[in-house]
Amino acid sequence: ARTKLWGGRFSEKTDTLLEKLNASIAYDKRMWSEDIQGSQAYAHALQRAGLLTEEEEQVIQNGLKLVSQEWELDNFKLHQSDEDIHTAIERRLEELIGLPATKLHSGRSRNDQVATDMKLWLRSKLNVLKKYIQHLTQILVERAKAEVGILMPGYTHLQRAQPVQWSHWLLSHAWYLKEDCDRLLQLQERMNVMPLGSGALAGSPFSINRSLLAKDLGFAKFTYNSMNAVGNRDFIAEFLFWASLTAVHLSQLAEDLILYNSKEFGFIRLSESYCTGSSLMPQKKNPDSLELIRGKAGRIYGNNCGFMMVLKGLPSTYNKDLQEDKEAMFDTYDSLECVLQVAMWTVKTLMVNEVSCATALSPDMLATDLAYYLVRKGVAFREAHYLAGEVVALAEKQNMDMPSLTLQQLKTISEKFEDDVLKVWDYKHSVEQYQTVGGTSTSSILHQIHLLEEWLHFA
Ligand code: ARG
Repeated sequence: ARTKLWGGRFSEKTDTLLEKLNASIAYDKRMWSEDIQGSQAYAHALQRAGLLTEEEEQVIQNGLKLVSQEWELDNFKLHQSDEDIHTAIERRLEELIGLPATKLHSGRSRNDQVATDMKLWLRSKLNVLKKYIQHLTQILVERAKAEVGILMPGYTHLQRAQPVQWSHWLLSHAWYLKEDCDRLLQLQERMNVMPLGSGALAGSPFSINRSLLAKDLGFAKFTYNSMNAVGNRDFIAEFLFWASLTAVHLSQLAEDLILYNSKEFGFIRLSESYCTGSSLMPQKKNPDSLELIRGKAGRIYGNNCGFMMVLKGLPSTYNKDLQEDKEAMFDTYDSLECVLQVAMWTVKTLMVNEVSCATALSPDMLATDLAYYLVRKGVAFREAHYLAGEVVALAEKQNMDMPSLTLQQLKTISEKFEDDVLKVWDYKHSVEQYQTVGGTSTSSILHQIHLLEEWLHFA
């Protein structure tokens, strides 16, 4: 039997090591359904072009259905010689229906076939990722809504900066995820272009109606240059970058939570379902879920970086280096699919400790508000900043908190200080001042929740 698709010109046997290196079936079999889908549409295109009779096409379609059932029932028997999914399915089709199967590849190459399969596969998987990202966003938004009013320190440089609401922190991560979703939609639109009908590199000499073929496969457009079509993996590179950035966002969320979960912060308590223990230290409850989310971001970016290196020196059109695209794509997908779900459940099940969040606030975090108090009394901001700095220094020198300074002491720094300065020392009052769109006041938080809920409703 002709065990290889390309055996005609060969008289020597392929070295087994090369066979091993060359084979992609172990992982590209995940695209069996997309490969069959592509062949179903291509058989029809060949029939429309007069290369298959209606009867021949019917025999092929029935055969492809049988092959599909074998995969579905996990009955498909791989052969040693099945180099990749395209080879395996064509081999099996011929075993089942004979001669018509050998006409299916007319004008087609595995080069345009594999690019098409991957786009079909990724297209449906991106929808899965989109759902998970939206679900995680929804969990953040729901928590933000239910937990309005909890105050905590906001940080810059990981130093106490200004009081914020816990909900504002939650929503800050929700907005990243919304943008990830927006970018996902743009990526989906850009990759919605069918390569099939490009042959190996020169195009098709048969009158394939590529417009109808694209329609049958659900692509909005088809490629206009066959050399570009078979070598173009920009959609993979973009997916890998998109996934890297999304994973970085999850990693940053995870990092915040790891800190907040530590005894030193104590802002949250993770559910035991998302922690593991130590084989040595009996007291330990480690935030492994979050650490793995953080760790996978490194792995996902590694896939992105590695694949860019594969692409960088390639000559035009198809080269076998491109086969590396699949493990990068699958591994990235699997990792992201998993961490998104773990992130969902970790965030959903954690408990926020309102008291610890509040006790972590300290009056020095109100120094900015003290400057704003002076601004409201007509002092120019730069001057107000300086004077508030003097108040901070005075309190430090007296070894007391700013709110414990007397009005007299404050007046030695500025005559503008009056009785109403007392209001400044109220954290709640502090956050509620930040009412301009985007701030941490309750009204702004409710506005954000409204916008995100609306987006989730129509997404
Ligand atoms: N398994 C190959 C890949 O994943 C399919 C394309 C092979 N094309 C070729 N001319 N050898 O890229």
